[in-house]
Amino acid sequence: MRRTRKAGGVTSVQTPPEQVIPEPEGMALACAAPGEFPALRIGPMVVWPPVILAPMAGVTDVPFRALCREHGEQGRMMGASPLSIDSAPGLYVNQMITARAWLEDHPKTLKLAEFGADESPRSIQLYGTVPEEVGETVRRLVDQGAVDHIDMNFGCPVPKVTKHGGGAALPVRHRLLRRIVRAAVDGAGDIPVTIKFRMGVDDDIMTFIETGLIGEDEGCAAIALHARTAEQLYSGHARWHAIGELKQAVTSIPVLGNGDIWEPADALAMMRETDCDGVVIGRGCLGRPWLFSALAAAFDGQPLPELPSFAVVSQIMLRHAEMLVDWYGNEGALRQFRKHALWYLMGFPIGGDMRNQFARFTTLAELRELVELVDPSELFPPGVLRQPRSHSGGPRAVHLPEGWLADRDNDQPPGGGADSIVSGG
Ligand SMILES: Cc1cc2nc3c(=O)[nH]c(=O)nc-3n(C[C@H](O)[C@H](O)[C@H](O)COP(=O)(O)O)c2cc1C
Repeated sequence: MRRTRKAGGVTSVQTPPEQVIPEPEGMALACAAPGEFPALRIGPMVVWPPVILAPMAGVTDVPFRALCREHGEQGRMMGASPLSIDSAPGLYVNQMITARAWLEDHPKTLKLAEFGADESPRSIQLYGTVPEEVGETVRRLVDQGAVDHIDMNFGCPVPKVTKHGGGAALPVRHRLLRRIVRAAVDGAGDIPVTIKFRMGVDDDIMTFIETGLIGEDEGCAAIALHARTAEQLYSGHARWHAIGELKQAVTSIPVLGNGDIWEPADALAMMRETDCDGVVIGRGCLGRPWLFSALAAAFDGQPLPELPSFAVVSQIMLRHAEMLVDWYGNEGALRQFRKHALWYLMGFPIGGDMRNQFARFTTLAELRELVELVDPSELFPPGVLRQPRSHSGGPRAVHLPEGWLADRDNDQPPGGGADSIVSGG
């Protein structure tokens, strides 16, 4: 959903032009057979089901992660698989921080790097283009006992970063990439490091196999591919065949697949089609944290839970908002909850006026009142299950720094704005 400013400063809510991702073949096979998939191992961590919440800036904060984990745990309890014993109920990755901002003690970055009191494993995503800064950040995070897993972001498609050689442009400079990954792995000691990347800059500059092999070579505990190029942004379909190719090439560590998992059947289809070792869930869980419960059921071979009515959705939505106010300590935090509210409401026939009110509330009391106005017996609209939430833009040409391709062996950090990243992957 997109919010636009109208004349007079009134905000209205628009639903993007309808885009629905088609179902994978064999959608009927929504349950795993007993023993079909093993638990995912990322260094010392054993994860069952093999499901990872993708790092998403502005989304995967403590409250959202806690909610997703709760649902994942509930789903796992229904199956009571022996794989659940002594394993994490999925891995829920924090938002990205940049090495430089963390080293410089930026308050916002320090807050982002916090975890819930009982959160385990604690997983965070890190970005940096200077090997020494990345190494130092990882070393200090690990020395402080602050994390159990570090993921490195090499997939950000934001133009202001790629045009300086950062983000998704960085893997082109394979030697620099190698230095950064090595610095992170060396700094991490026994803490597992993973890398997440795209297929390449565009269809002419594909880097994912080389990037995966570098990750494997330098001691990463797993690698994750968002099966789109930077040029694709979030458009079209994720090209799962690339995940299969990566899995063929990288044989000694787990390969995780990412892109277009909207329903449990997509996760199983991706694992079956590509032979990947785990799935990374991005936009599919926005406004639908219960997807993790359904995923757990599917991997345990259990019947999928029914889609929730509005009565259930509204309880989850209110709980999410309350957790957010608790975590940030004031109702001002609800401003950033509005996008979640609109994702929760996607497809429910509540009308434009009501939707606009949900885009404006400022207090928990107002949110509770608004929720009361919606018919609790409304059933979740299955038509929106495969409709992308949040990002769906692209394709967009990627501009690289001058000479970037001609000097691929250069192992020096690009400097300039390559570190001025906020998010994305
Ligand atoms: C709001 C939003 C923020 C994102 N932020 C990040 C990020 O900080 N780091 C990252 O590696 N990927 C980020 N991504 C990309 C996702 O992790 C994921 O790779 C992408 O959405 C594709 O998966 P999907 O098709 O399941 O959504 C973001 C995606 C969204 C929608």
